Amino acid sequence: MIDCGIASSPAEYIFPYLKQVGIEEVSFLINTHGHQDHMGGSSYIKENSKAKVAAHELDVPWIENHALLLKEFVAKYDIYFPLNDKAISEFYKSVGKECKVDMILKDGAIIPVDGSELKVIHTPGHTKGSICLYEPSERILFTSDAVQGTGLSSESYNFKVLPVYMDAEAYFNSLNRLKEMNIELALMAHDFEPFKRRVLKGEEFREYLNLSLNLFMKMDELILKILEDGPYDLLALTKIISDKITEGKGILWNDIYIVDAHLQRLLKGEKVSYSEGKYLR
Ligand SMILES: [Fe+2]
Repeated sequence: MIDCGIASSPAEYIFPYLKQVGIEEVSFLINTHGHQDHMGGSSYIKENSKAKVAAHELDVPWIENHALLLKEFVAKYDIYFPLNDKAISEFYKSVGKECKVDMILKDGAIIPVDGSELKVIHTPGHTKGSICLYEPSERILFTSDAVQGTGLSSESYNFKVLPVYMDAEAYFNSLNRLKEMNIELALMAHDFEPFKRRVLKGEEFREYLNLSLNLFMKMDELILKILEDGPYDLLALTKIISDKITEGKGILWNDIYIVDAHLQRLLKGEKVSYSEGKYLR
C-alpha cells in the first residue's frame, strides 16, 4: 500500500474498500512522505493488519514525532499565522497516533511487489524525504506530492493555492531528475492543476513537469521584479504574489511556503539580500 490518508481514512475508506475487492491483509505500507494526509492512518493500519511501515529516512522524524511535524511544518509560520487550539487539535486528530517506521528507505531501494518491484526515487523539495515510486515493467511512476504542476484549486470552495515546497533548489532538481525518466503513466496524490487529474499519460506527464518548471522559474522572476519596489518582509511579499498568481483566491498560509523557499534560494544565489526582517534586491 502506498500512503494511507489521515487517521480516520483506513477505517472509513481503506479497509472497507480492501474487503470489497477481496484483499484481506496489508503486508507493507509505504509513506511517500511525512505529511498527515499521507501517513496519518499508518498506526491504525499497523494495529489492524500485519503491515510493516516504510518511509524515506529524512521524513521518518515527522512520522514518529508529531510535535516535530507540527513545529517544523504545520506551525512553521505561526509568527504570521498563529494556530489556535482548534487548529492544533484538528492537526492531532488528522495525524493519528505516532507510528514507528519499520523500514528506512533510501534512494534506489528496490521493494519487491508480487512478481514486480517498486524502485524508490528520492525526490526532495516538497519535504526533505519525499519519494516517488517507480514500477519499471509498465513504467508507472507514483509521484504523490513530489510534483505539483501549478498548484491546486477548487471552484466550489473558491480557493487556489500555489505548489507547496520547502526547499526550492531540491524541488527544481527533482523535477529535472524526473524529466530524464521515460514514464508511461504517472499517478499523483491530488488533482494538481492544470490537468486536475490524478492519472496522467506519459506525454501529459512530460507537459506537467514542464509546467511545474515554468511556474518555478516564474516565481523567481516575480519575486525579483516585486523586490525592485521593496524591501518587503515575507508576509507582505507573499500577499502580493498570492494576489497576482491566484487572482485574490489564494490561501496565504499555504502560499508562504513556496515564497519563503524561493527567497532562500535567491538569498543563497546572492540575487536578493536580507536586512532587518525584510528582503531587498
Ligand atoms: Fe504533502
